[in-house]
Amino acid sequence: MRNFGTLLASVLLAAGFTSASPVAAPAPHNVTLNARQNPTEVIIQMFGWSWDSIAAECEAFIGPAGYSWVQVSPPQEHITGGQWWTEYQPVSYKIQSKRGNRSQFQNMVSRCRNSGVRIIADAVINHMSAINSGTGVGGSSFSQFNYPGIYQRQDFHTCNRNGNNDIMNYNDRYEVQNCELNNLADLATESDYVRGKIAAYLNDLLSLGVEGLRIDAAKHIPTGDISNILSRLSRVVYITQEVIFGPGEPILPSEYTRNGDVQEFRYTYTLRDAFLGGTINNLRDFSTWGWVAGGQANAFVANHDTERDHFATPLKYDSPNNAYVLAHVFSLAHPYGQPSVLSGYSWSNFDTGAPDNGAGRCSGSGGSGGWLCQHRWLAISAMVGFRRTVGTAALNNWQSPANNRIAFGRGTTGFVAINRATSAWTGTFTTSLPNGSYCDVISGNPVNGACSGFAVNVSGGRFTATIPALSALAVHTGARGTGTGGGNTPPPASGTVAVNFRSTATTVLGENIFVVGSLAQLGAWNPDAAVALSSASYPVWTGTVNVAPNTEFQYKFLRKGPNGVQWTSDPNFTVRTPASGSQTLNDSWR
Ligand SMILES: *[C@@H]1O[C@H](CO)[C@@H](O)[C@H](O)[C@H]1NC(C)=O
Ligand SMILES: *[C@@H]1O[C@H](CO)[C@@H](O)[C@H](O)[C@H]1NC(C)=O
Ligand SMILES: *[C@@H]1O[C@H](CO)[C@@H](O)[C@H](O)[C@H]1NC(C)=O
Ligand SMILES: *[C@@H]1O[C@H](CO)[C@@H](O)[C@H](O)[C@H]1NC(C)=O
Ligand SMILES: *[C@@H]1O[C@H](CO)[C@@H](O)[C@H](O)[C@H]1NC(C)=O
Ligand SMILES: *[C@@H]1O[C@H](CO)[C@@H](O)[C@H](O)[C@H]1NC(C)=O
Repeated sequence: MRNFGTLLASVLLAAGFTSASPVAAPAPHNVTLNARQNPTEVIIQMFGWSWDSIAAECEAFIGPAGYSWVQVSPPQEHITGGQWWTEYQPVSYKIQSKRGNRSQFQNMVSRCRNSGVRIIADAVINHMSAINSGTGVGGSSFSQFNYPGIYQRQDFHTCNRNGNNDIMNYNDRYEVQNCELNNLADLATESDYVRGKIAAYLNDLLSLGVEGLRIDAAKHIPTGDISNILSRLSRVVYITQEVIFGPGEPILPSEYTRNGDVQEFRYTYTLRDAFLGGTINNLRDFSTWGWVAGGQANAFVANHDTERDHFATPLKYDSPNNAYVLAHVFSLAHPYGQPSVLSGYSWSNFDTGAPDNGAGRCSGSGGSGGWLCQHRWLAISAMVGFRRTVGTAALNNWQSPANNRIAFGRGTTGFVAINRATSAWTGTFTTSLPNGSYCDVISGNPVNGACSGFAVNVSGGRFTATIPALSALAVHTGARGTGTGGGNTPPPASGTVAVNFRSTATTVLGENIFVVGSLAQLGAWNPDAAVALSSASYPVWTGTVNVAPNTEFQYKFLRKGPNGVQWTSDPNFTVRTPASGSQTLNDSWR
């Protein structure tokens, strides 16, 4: 968690299976109890999803699609409230949160495990609540520095600095690890008693079948304290630690590799800068960039904090120019780190919690009801199969003939080309893939030997293909198939679909037409946040909003004028976006 308040916050796929409606039967992966990563395995951070909905999604899609891990929200009891960050304010170690109770948690772990998916719990162990008194979601009452039966005054740090004990100076190691992160009661993790309590909580999670831990706010705990706590665990599990690199700060991500993987935020920020505005041409090799080694990094395009970044334009689900999808294609194709994919919901306000009390909903290759289900987006789920097929093969055949155009292979089993330029790229590519015909898994899968999308023919270490603007192509030996190619154009690996509203409405002077609806981009039904339409084609009022593909949403039009706000009559208009491209909605005022 970052400074919230100001910023916060197996081998099923052997055949390159990428369809949105999986048909392969799930088979359990072998579990290796190893704190070190397996870089071919992909983690999904299911942000805000309830335990019951994760269990169902493990069975319906996640396991069959070949993902290996799900990182779940913090499972311990926390303060009440609708905002997402309440889960990062523990009040007891009861397994009872907004996302479900202990039996629901255990049921999720076991149903996911039976689908070949292991659970990583988000472990909030640096601190307890910032709120000074109240009752948690599981009924436990607490007051400042007093969590009955667990912690009392002596179990917390008071750094006696800055008037409010808050961290002000990130260049001071003592402050970062002994003062309070945004007023959160800071646990004295040097104490044997506190270490024992934390370890008992983590061992309780392990007893329920948890096989990985993400250590939240790890930078605010000395690395040796984390080592001591982990040494008390009943078995070895996968560890990833949130250590946000800050330029010039004394606490370094590399201090934490002794405990397990480290979340390498320099990777996240580099992808953001490259895919949002800079160039992608220098992303070949990060080994000399001063980051933690790929074998010790947990790498992602976005997590719940970075998508809410107040300090820079974040790379997020609705970034323009397909940037979010293209960055994922890169991240899942490139060998650096153990990759995580965020799967969350659309939001307009920093604090907004998950829709429907966390009951995540997906269908086809997208989400519904505000859920995004990024893990189902075709380009992202296709790349999970790519990553499994290429395994640990080295990156080779790097080609970048023009700005924002890169292509590279992974050994003799996979090849990817990413075109972040705004015109189509027709190229002849050098590859180590064997002779044969391959399906571009981003545009379609092999179905009975034929590609449902674009195909390439490799011959003598070369193939020719056209990659549309702002799109990508990925082929691997797990997805062979024949089909047309050459001049054929695959559909874009679209992260968003342009929805064009065209509302025919006659108005009088002073009246304007707006659209409002269930999505954040449509004001989440708040008439004050409705999107103004243009009268340039009067009496047709027009406007365009970008929406995730395969997403169902509802909307109505508003007439705002001197006589107040009038809504179109019931029922709500309901539509679903296509998988890519654009959609035009012609409606008349009623
Ligand atoms: C799992 O482990 C068993 C026993 O070591 C082995 O026979 C089997 O091939 C492994 N399965 C996979 C999918 O690696
Ligand atoms: C957990 O929640 C489920 C669903 O609401 C409920 O049926 C069950 O009784 C609860 N279990 C406990 C131990 O509270
Ligand atoms: C691959 O195709 C090229 C061109 O047709 C041919 O020269 C070469 O012998 C083939 N390689 C194999 C291993 O068949
Ligand atoms: C690949 O080769 C086959 C057989 O010659 C041909 O039918 C097909 O159109 C080719 N596909 C592409 C993408 O060039
Ligand atoms: C339209 O959507 C709003 C917001 O979800 C809901 O309150 C309302 O009942 C819906 N109207 C109809 C007729 O379903
Ligand atoms: C909406 O209107 C536009 C412009 O007349 C037209 O091109 C388009 O096909 C229409 N869309 C539908 C779904 O009717």
